[in-house]
Amino acid sequence: DWTPDSFVETTIAELKAKLGDDKVVLGLSGGVDSSVAAVLLHHAIGANLHCIFVDNGLLRKDEFQSVLDSYQHMGLNVRGIDAKQRFYDALAGLTDPEKKRKAIGRVFIEVFDDAAHEIQGVSWLGQGTIYPDVIESVSVKGPSATIKSHHNVGGLPDFMKLKVVEPLNTLFKDEVRKVGAALGIDQNILGRHPFPGPGLAIRILGDITPEKVDILQQADAIYINNLRSAGVYDKVWQAGAIYLPVQSVGVMGDERTYENVICLRAVESLDGMTADWCHLPYDLLAKISNEIINNVKGINRVVYDISSKPPATIEWE
Ligand code: XMP
Repeated sequence: DWTPDSFVETTIAELKAKLGDDKVVLGLSGGVDSSVAAVLLHHAIGANLHCIFVDNGLLRKDEFQSVLDSYQHMGLNVRGIDAKQRFYDALAGLTDPEKKRKAIGRVFIEVFDDAAHEIQGVSWLGQGTIYPDVIESVSVKGPSATIKSHHNVGGLPDFMKLKVVEPLNTLFKDEVRKVGAALGIDQNILGRHPFPGPGLAIRILGDITPEKVDILQQADAIYINNLRSAGVYDKVWQAGAIYLPVQSVGVMGDERTYENVICLRAVESLDGMTADWCHLPYDLLAKISNEIINNVKGINRVVYDISSKPPATIEWE
């Protein structure tokens, strides 16, 4: 019978046998899958697992540092790389969602390849691929798919010539969470909402600037913190704020304002393929809206997305 504990035990033994004294490089995203894969590999091969966590400047407010701290706390051999500017430079002026995704994928590969080269004698690439990624590898939009879509763009980066080790590729998401819990991984990582690889870049409609990222991070943090303190966060499948490049008129004291709109999105779903908008309590929405408008400079209006998937998608891009 499958149990998380038996999976952990046999997988660690198999990884030890397979990898011996070899070195593995693995990209951490802050998400559940890569984190669980890393901890399993760490149990098997210790410091021969070299983790790389890239700050693409498109994560939630303070998330890079807090997740990096958690990883270090878990004893992982992890290197954090600040590549914000490289991503912002590559995104400058791009408005098409797919072009933005491609640019982010390309820069990630460059940054990761540079970092992987600095590890002497690495022979394996560790990945947090789970079973649904394997069966949907054509349509899935995860980081592994981003990498796949670059297979045919010139030569392969060196890290993609490495042998691949994917300890979670027989598991479904709920099983990954159970394995993570059996490994003692923090609920702050295991219980987190799904977050797209391109991050806030697809929650800022149109072109990306560091100023817009800053505004969205502030609004999103107010939103998510309120969901947490209201005890709603764990009941929602995914939530996030979206920056609309639309200006509307408002008043502040005696002044007329002409500023941007933040949209709040929260959905219930099983797998992201279909989703219903969440009926968040009105007083919670009112509190969040007031806090955002009163505290985030550049925003004078907040709206709530009441569209389900299909026909709308979860993300706006
Ligand atoms: P949509 O917007 O297609 O999103 O309804 C379904 C789920 O997929 C996530 N998503 C992405 N994840 N890279 C990712 O890693 C992407 O480019 C991407 N686009 C959407 C989205 O957050 C939701 O969970």
